[in-house]
Amino acid sequence: MLFAWCDRHNTMRMPEIIEKKRDGFELSDAEIDFVIEGLVADRIPDYQIAAWMMAICWRGMTERETASLTRAMMYSGDVVDLSDIPGVKVDKHSTGGVGDTTTLVIAPLVAACGGTVAKMSGRGLAHSGGTLDKLESVPGVCVEQSMDDFKRIVREIGVAVIGQSGNLDPADKRMYALRDVTATVQSIPLIASSIMSKKLAAGADAIVLDVKMGNGAFMQTLEDARKLAASMVSIGKHVGRKTVAVITDMNRPLGMAVGNGLEMKEAIDVLSGQVPFDDPLVRVCMTLGSYMLTLAGVAKDAQEAEAMLSNALVSGVGLKKLRDMLVAMGGDPAYVDAPERLVQTSRIIPVYPNRSGYVGCINAQDIGLASCMLGAGRESKSDSVDPAVGILMKKRYGDRVDTDEPYAVLYVNSERRLDEAMQLLDSAISICDEKPEELPMIYDVIE
Ligand code: URA
Ligand code: CA
Repeated sequence: MLFAWCDRHNTMRMPEIIEKKRDGFELSDAEIDFVIEGLVADRIPDYQIAAWMMAICWRGMTERETASLTRAMMYSGDVVDLSDIPGVKVDKHSTGGVGDTTTLVIAPLVAACGGTVAKMSGRGLAHSGGTLDKLESVPGVCVEQSMDDFKRIVREIGVAVIGQSGNLDPADKRMYALRDVTATVQSIPLIASSIMSKKLAAGADAIVLDVKMGNGAFMQTLEDARKLAASMVSIGKHVGRKTVAVITDMNRPLGMAVGNGLEMKEAIDVLSGQVPFDDPLVRVCMTLGSYMLTLAGVAKDAQEAEAMLSNALVSGVGLKKLRDMLVAMGGDPAYVDAPERLVQTSRIIPVYPNRSGYVGCINAQDIGLASCMLGAGRESKSDSVDPAVGILMKKRYGDRVDTDEPYAVLYVNSERRLDEAMQLLDSAISICDEKPEELPMIYDVIE
């Protein structure tokens, strides 16, 4: 077999594979393996990988090619084996948004209902927040855990959320860095394989995807969001993992808090029962959590799952799971018990509307960027974030506003880009005379 492998690879040449994709033909599994193996082994230079990815951008990939690419990327590095942890391990992934605090609420709630959540998360990217940064807003929390400690915490508590291990999906690391600088990020097969290869390498048996759609998301239209969702669900099917994608609205921040400590505090507030059930963040959490419990086989249907999640929320068991997880990761429980300590800043600045009316269109991306300007996100990769700063919205889409009531409150430690942040926030909110039409929270579910 080894001889056959060498023979097969010796006959392949990268220029011909690029040409084949450039001309719109379907690549074989062997050709895709050749590219990914060559990329990881540093046999294929960046310029050929970049040209190949540009050809994929233009020509697309069939479902089979996309699944084949995903599998090759998944096996390009470490693949986490969770089989020694009992139960169906269920993961969730969000394509990224603003005020998207769902993981901090759902992961502990699902664990409180008997689900097993072993999750690897990322840091903030551009205007969108990252779960690792939010976890680290609790002093002491260490998101870099050894595989043994990660599994021990999952076994003992039912949930752990940590950073990716260093050698998870090295093909994606190299491809993503190149895509970022060669205008090849916006390609559905490349985005779908990038997300799914990391999820699959992280070892979950079942995956619930939250595909965000709107001005604060990667996918700006419902049509594109549907295509991405369908592509990822198809990959899951090809590799034999149960996958569901929920398309949710990102034409406004999901929660009211935008900033790391603020979002941790909001998650704690939700899990303490202080946020009503019809709140958009709670509704999206209930929907995603309910698919996680049914995919894991813990609940027989959505109705049973939602009842279990509500009980775990009202009884405080979900909050206890979050607290136990944070403590197991080194966190100081005093901050969970008194979450206002997470958002102590030198200044708290209310922002007032310049006219009365109703909150209409919101540019969620600009609210995320304004929060980054206050120090909640990074301008370059090596920057550190200030866990306490950010924006707490006081009004949502459709709410009545008056000039004597703040629509948002800024948590500020540095004046450096304060004016710029305030201007951006102001331009992100439009105020209209009529109450705007309601926006759906959940657009579609692809199973
Ligand atoms: N998130 C990813 O992990 N990869 C992409 O390509 C886009 C979003
Ligand atoms: Ca008033």
